Amino acid sequence: MQIVGLRHMYGMVTEAIRDYMGLSPTAFIVIVGVMILTYKIVCGMFVAADDYKAVRDMNAVYEADMTREPVQLGNVTEEELKAYDGSNPQKPLLMAIKGQIYDVSRGRMFYGPGGPYAMFAGHDATRALALMSFDPQDLTGNTEGLSESELDVLEDWELKFNEKYPKVGFLVPKAAIVDDDHLETKKAV
Ligand code: HEM
Repeated sequence: MQIVGLRHMYGMVTEAIRDYMGLSPTAFIVIVGVMILTYKIVCGMFVAADDYKAVRDMNAVYEADMTREPVQLGNVTEEELKAYDGSNPQKPLLMAIKGQIYDVSRGRMFYGPGGPYAMFAGHDATRALALMSFDPQDLTGNTEGLSESELDVLEDWELKFNEKYPKVGFLVPKAAIVDDDHLETKKAV
């Protein structure tokens, strides 16, 4: 009895499809299937960015950059500065200009990994900025042979950094860190 009822309903539905749409039931099923598939594919393209773990992790790093108080490091050697090049997202991003070390974490989009100026993080960018150079050889505090105008460019950068980023220490040659007092002032971040 139930089977007869179902057959009757199926007959009515297929007839309605044929009458109103001029389609065979098979064509109708194929078209509906394609529509559902297209809908699923298009919806899949609009996944919220926050659903991706990598995006959530990156957001957390940016959030930490904005809220973390800059830590004063005192004297730091070039070798030690390298630890702040962005390879460890837990550490702030630091760079040096004319012997001053700046915490540029708030500029992570510039200096963080993949940023246009990532090469400056963890380095002395004095000469590179004076020359507007991306040559790794210019990642040094050596200002020998720079022209007046290049020194002016460097000064402009220094002013910009003084305005924008907190100073957290001084770049010193390795030999300068000799006594325990200086080492005391350096706190691990
Ligand atoms: C094609 C050439 C370049 C273009 C189009 C360009 C573009 C920009 C733009 C749009 C900004 C942001 C400015 C702002 O926030 O006020 C910027 C900032 C900066 N640029 Fe460039 N730039 C170029 C070349 C260079 C070069 C050669 C250097 C150094 C070697 C350099 C170093 C910097 C630095 C240090 C900043 C400051 C980022 C900060 O605010 O912390 N740029 N640049």
